[in-house]
This record gives sequence, structure tokens and C-alpha cells, in this order.
Amino acid sequence: MPHRETYFFVCTNRRKEDDARGSCAGRGAEELLPALKASLAKRGAAKALRACGSTCLDLCEVGAVILQEPAHIVYGGVSVGDVEEIVDAALAGKVVERLRVAPPSAE
Ligand code: FES
Repeated sequence: MPHRETYFFVCTNRRKEDDARGSCAGRGAEELLPALKASLAKRGAAKALRACGSTCLDLCEVGAVILQEPAHIVYGGVSVGDVEEIVDAALAGKVVERLRVAPPSAE
């Protein structure tokens, strides 16, 4: 199987309920991965774009998080209702700006 053009890493990390950091799984991320896989399959795009589960991406404060590579786009606060828009954008070479987490400044 060749490398894919795009990978979506969906953090599905879960922490204990009393952990102050929270976790992506606690914010619905476990539903994101199958929804993303289903969306890609429905469009016949699964050979070019792949959705994978991930452990913590150290972006917990903005979870649920999807990291899109190699474009290096971080989406935060993602819910299942955002999945189709994210896939549409990836297929069009665009970014869903309303969900994008800005990279740290170079300063
Ligand atoms: S728990 Fe998802 S980024 Fe840390």
C-alpha cells in the first residue's frame, strides 16, 4: 500500500474524569474517528486520505483535536458535525479556518 497524500490523526486519548487537563475522548473524539473513516470511504477517498487514531497530541486544551498531515493543520474543538466540512476542505486543498488552531508564533 503506498503512502497516502493526507493523514488525519484523531486524538482519542482518554483521561480520568477528575484530571484537570481533560481529554479528547472526554470531548467526543471517539466518535470522530469512525465518522471520518466513513466519510472518506463514502467519497471513495480512503486510498488517498487516511484517518488514524492517535494518543495525546499535547493539544488537550483545544480538544477534540485532529492533526492533518503533511499540511500540518491542527483542528480544535472538533465535533462529529464538523467532519464532512473537514473532508471537503482537504479534498479541495483548503482549510476550515473556523476550526483551525493557530500555530505558535515564531517569536
Ligand atoms: S488528550 Fe487529545 S491532545 Fe491531549
